[in-house]
Amino acid sequence: MTQLHVIPRHIAIVMDGNGRWAKKRFLPRLAGHKQGVEALRRCVRLCIARGVRVLTVFAFSSENWNRPAEEVSGLMNLLAGALAREVPSLHAEGVRLHFVGERASLSDKVQSGFAQAEALTVANDRLVLNVCFNYGGRSDIVQAAAHVAAQGQTMTEQSLSAAMGMAHVADPDLIIRTGGEFRISNFLLWQAAYSELYFSPALWPDFDAVDLDAAIADFAQRERRFGQTSEQITQSSASAVAI
Ligand code: IPE
Ligand code: IPE
Ligand code: MG
Repeated sequence: MTQLHVIPRHIAIVMDGNGRWAKKRFLPRLAGHKQGVEALRRCVRLCIARGVRVLTVFAFSSENWNRPAEEVSGLMNLLAGALAREVPSLHAEGVRLHFVGERASLSDKVQSGFAQAEALTVANDRLVLNVCFNYGGRSDIVQAAAHVAAQGQTMTEQSLSAAMGMAHVADPDLIIRTGGEFRISNFLLWQAAYSELYFSPALWPDFDAVDLDAAIADFAQRERRFGQTSEQITQSSASAVAI
């Protein structure tokens, strides 16, 4: 079958497995999260090199507040440090940053770091990087529905999508979860409707070019039917090739 778009335009990743990576090395969980930041940095560069246009990552879920206080505060400090350290080089590489999720309960420092990073990178267009932080798919749907209702708009798929945190990008083509778990954990519930799913056994800090290329190669073999039949898809891609 002819594959027209082998490289997914939008990849979303549940970056899971930091804690287990650290545990295997008898290190504190936070050491795994630190290494996770390095893995994200590597992944951004790889996505640019492969021609991916949008990368969305799940960095902290609305349920992750329920972790031990020490881990939560460690993650917040790590975030603040990563913003200060990584944003200038991301900007230099043409990355446009968006932070998706509920911000009001984050520290002033983190909130202003988000706003500054978004403003600094607003004109970049090599790669859009959405960092989902204090994000939950269900609460995103609920706040969007509340917004549509408060505006007195008619509730449609379009009006709801437009009020959601990911309204500025098309839905993910490929969702990768690392760390060997087979679940979605409240990530992009609405936007995942027709995403291809890929589960990698690699722990996030270990996720490298070989793992990413394996996911992209797997994606290239998929037939995305969007409810149609295989024959319809083959015909329309054949005529698209003829054009
Ligand atoms: C993912 O790694 C990062 C966050 C949820 C912040 P985990 O911390 O969940 O790692 P495991 O699943 O315990 O190995
Ligand atoms: C999902 O991982 C959230 C992030 C990667 C940020 P979790 O480790 O929180 O998911 P569960 O608890 O195993 O489902
Ligand atoms: Mg986990």
